Amino acid sequence: MRTARMNPDAEAAAVWVPIAELRPWDKNPRLNEPAVAKVADSIKRFGFGSPILARANGEIIAGHTRLKAAIKLGLDRVPVRFLDLDPADAQLLALADNKLAEIAEWDDALLADILKDIDPGDAALAGFGAKEIADLIEQLAPPVEVAPEDDDIPPPPAEPITEPGDLWIMGTHRLLCGDCRNPEDVERLLAGSQPRTVITSPPYFNQRDYSHWERYGDYLADMVRVIERLPEPVLICWNVGDAATEHLDIPADTSAAFSLSGFEYIDKIVWRKPGAVFDCPRNGHIAKQRYYPAFAWEPILIFRRGEHPKFDAKDVPYWNDNVTNVWDVETVASNAKEHPAAFPVELPLRLMRAYSQRGETIYDPFAGSGSTLIACEKAGRRAVLMEMDAKYCDVIAIRWEKATGRKAVRNGQFAEGQAF
Ligand SMILES: C[S@@+](CC[C@H](N)C(=O)[O-])C[C@H]1O[C@@H](n2cnc3c(N)ncnc32)[C@H](O)[C@@H]1O
Repeated sequence: MRTARMNPDAEAAAVWVPIAELRPWDKNPRLNEPAVAKVADSIKRFGFGSPILARANGEIIAGHTRLKAAIKLGLDRVPVRFLDLDPADAQLLALADNKLAEIAEWDDALLADILKDIDPGDAALAGFGAKEIADLIEQLAPPVEVAPEDDDIPPPPAEPITEPGDLWIMGTHRLLCGDCRNPEDVERLLAGSQPRTVITSPPYFNQRDYSHWERYGDYLADMVRVIERLPEPVLICWNVGDAATEHLDIPADTSAAFSLSGFEYIDKIVWRKPGAVFDCPRNGHIAKQRYYPAFAWEPILIFRRGEHPKFDAKDVPYWNDNVTNVWDVETVASNAKEHPAAFPVELPLRLMRAYSQRGETIYDPFAGSGSTLIACEKAGRRAVLMEMDAKYCDVIAIRWEKATGRKAVRNGQFAEGQAF
């Protein structure tokens, strides 16, 4: 096989030599077998980027892999640069030829900038694997941080487009207007995917209009129902607070219910809410000389079944700076009645950084205004969301469209007359 790029006449500092005239250095310490196929592909595409180095007697100094690749390609001659070196110098040059290249380092930003525009098949020719490229390119992305507008929640429409049973597709994310206690709805939403992590904030028993339980025991049984059928391994992040007016310790009771149903208790993260204290109606009790301290924190219960998930290696510095179980995160400003008691995007974002990796699926069974979806969008995760209330499903779709500039699809179609 000979291409124009392997034309002997075009070579100056090297000569074309029959392969039979060369012999490998018998002490070559490089284990080059894994590289032979890639070097062969490279020679086939580009020709010889550099000749083989050999002593005058035909013993190879550097280029053993090139020689094996040439044999693999069925070539009968290879370009060789002969150097008049004694065995000791030839040995030194052989070592230097391999070792000196290891001393130079990559400028990762420049490298990623080049690789991002190269077809992955071509990049493989240069020896870069798909995962290696993805990791490099990800480093180029700006750090995942919440912007103030991420917490903007559009008001619910008077007449929602969504109807119960509707399935919204938003990029890679899915939202079903359904009931997370209903196994058929869950199956339809997940469509075969297996979320490794659940991040959610359920109703706090009957503190809001969207609750549907008369008895506290039924509420707790339903909370277990939401997670108990999820396949292992799964880790649950459950943000729930007290029912102040009914004096119920919902986090403690939920914890007991989850433990009794076979989940393993892992942690209780304190979400401390700077600035939230003075918004709390509990302050009103001070005027009545009854001490009910204002709520300044809520727990996030962490339970799991099966293996504990790993976080991304690139997040090690982040967790080095945030090692404790007390997280200060500002609340979302609005407390309006029509608002689904949203948690700030920073909260699910932190949780998914702690308990999942890029590309994984996160399940929020009580999606509300879709804060978990926005966090997934920012952090490169895929969200599967259940929300029972049609108007909140609209809010989620509107919010996602505003955040991404893309169009949500309802039941396989862009919504007819969709105003957003
Ligand atoms: C506390 S809110 C969630 C707020 C959400 N974390 C956010 O950031 O917007 C609870 C949500 O669960 C929804 N919900 C209540 N029962 C449900 C059920 N059985 N299935 C699905 N959603 C339900 C309510 O409509 C409400 O929007």
